[in-house]
Amino acid sequence: MRPAPTVVEGVRVLRLPDAAAVAAAAAAALIDAIYQAQAQGRDPVIGVATGDTPQATYARVTAAVESGCLDPARAWIVALDEYVGLGRDDPRRYRHELLRKVVEPWGVDPTRLLVPEVDSADLTEAAHVFEERLAAIGGVDLQLLGIGRNGHVGFNEPGSDPEQGTRLVRLAPSTRAANAVHFRSVDEVPQEAVSQGLATILRARRLLLLATGPQKAAAVAAALGPEADGPVPASVIRSHPHVTVVLDHDAARLLR
Ligand code: F6R
Repeated sequence: MRPAPTVVEGVRVLRLPDAAAVAAAAAAALIDAIYQAQAQGRDPVIGVATGDTPQATYARVTAAVESGCLDPARAWIVALDEYVGLGRDDPRRYRHELLRKVVEPWGVDPTRLLVPEVDSADLTEAAHVFEERLAAIGGVDLQLLGIGRNGHVGFNEPGSDPEQGTRLVRLAPSTRAANAVHFRSVDEVPQEAVSQGLATILRARRLLLLATGPQKAAAVAAALGPEADGPVPASVIRSHPHVTVVLDHDAARLLR
């Protein structure tokens, strides 16, 4: 039998035994969002996170596409963020990661991948253009979120203003250390990124935050529990009317 969601601080929380169960639940929600938009005669707009947590979810959606149950060719795929300072063809750019893991395997038209532009000399203007394009496609139906060990969502690090939109951000040292596994050393990890702001994220019609593993337990507890050291960025999801948090046993460990 499937565990029932509980409500913590007004947020629906689904606690599942392991990361595979989290991926299955998240993939089902994602597929449902695509079906729902298609049933309404609209092109689905799916906000995706990069990083390790959602990879198994994307693989399950790919399996649904390959089995012929799902055709997201006309979906829009919207990134949360992009590193600043990597070469255009660097495979660690989030644009390339999303092309490899989402756009190509799901059969989405690559012109429908929306990622903050980071090659422009004027990144403030580029962030503004990203917001405008996002608004022009009707906003995000379902935004998938991971959570950083320090409670960031997107690259909104602790101290981010919840009213801010997409902008140039500086990565916290702990974020650079966590992401160093994808680089030869921590020194290679970019110092900056352009990230959707917390206000941008909160405009999505639905939010789905995933967390797996013991290294996320403290951040999850801070996002959904009493805030000893002030609010972590992820706690803004509490103010969203349609949010679900899906956790494995380890990530839920410190949650009351
Ligand atoms: C990625 C992003 C980040 C990650 C977070 C968790 O686009 O915006 O907020 O979701 O750092 O990363 P993983 O899943 O690698 O632990």
